[in-house]
Amino acid sequence: MSETVRVLISEEEVEARIQEIADQINRDYAGREIHMICVLKGGVFFMCELAKKIKVPVSLDFMSVSSYGDDTKSSGVVKIVKDLDQPLEGKEVLVVEDIIDSGRTLSYLLNILKNRNPHSVHLCTLLDKPERRVADVKVDYCCFDIPDEFVVGYGLDYAQKYRNLPYIGVVELGAD
Ligand code: IMP
Ligand code: MG
Repeated sequence: MSETVRVLISEEEVEARIQEIADQINRDYAGREIHMICVLKGGVFFMCELAKKIKVPVSLDFMSVSSYGDDTKSSGVVKIVKDLDQPLEGKEVLVVEDIIDSGRTLSYLLNILKNRNPHSVHLCTLLDKPERRVADVKVDYCCFDIPDEFVVGYGLDYAQKYRNLPYIGVVELGAD
């Protein structure tokens, strides 16, 4: 079977929108600091682009939770694969995610983070599929709402491939 990727959101559109979200975050966090938490691996490309555009002091930490195998459906099971290195006590936490789909991963993760006594916790995502939501999650910053299609690129994978694409695309499987 052949695999092709159709462009859904171009590199230029992604970059321009990340700048807009960064401008908004810069206004909202003026005079404060941000402790960014990247949800690996998908969030890493977005976090790097976003962090470069933030003007207030930024510190970074990484966490890995998994709710997916090499499949395109949520298992509903979330496990911490790698925990944060630093405590969150008193910090202004901004969780940076690639995509919110059912919301199960984030609702589980946000509960864990809030129990560590941060000063605040906000959520920033590159993509959101609101139609697919099962668990309630408050999204504070979202670059793009997208339809219910399986997307890749800009950190997002299909069976670990395509994370390095500089745009967001939809994988199309041919019958040949
Ligand atoms: P949720 O728990 O259903 O919200 O799933 C969130 C995670 O599923 C994301 O962080 C991604 O790793 C993965 N995921 C959901 N939708 C897609 C998609 O369209 N492409 C690639 N990964 C996805
Ligand atoms: Mg993710």
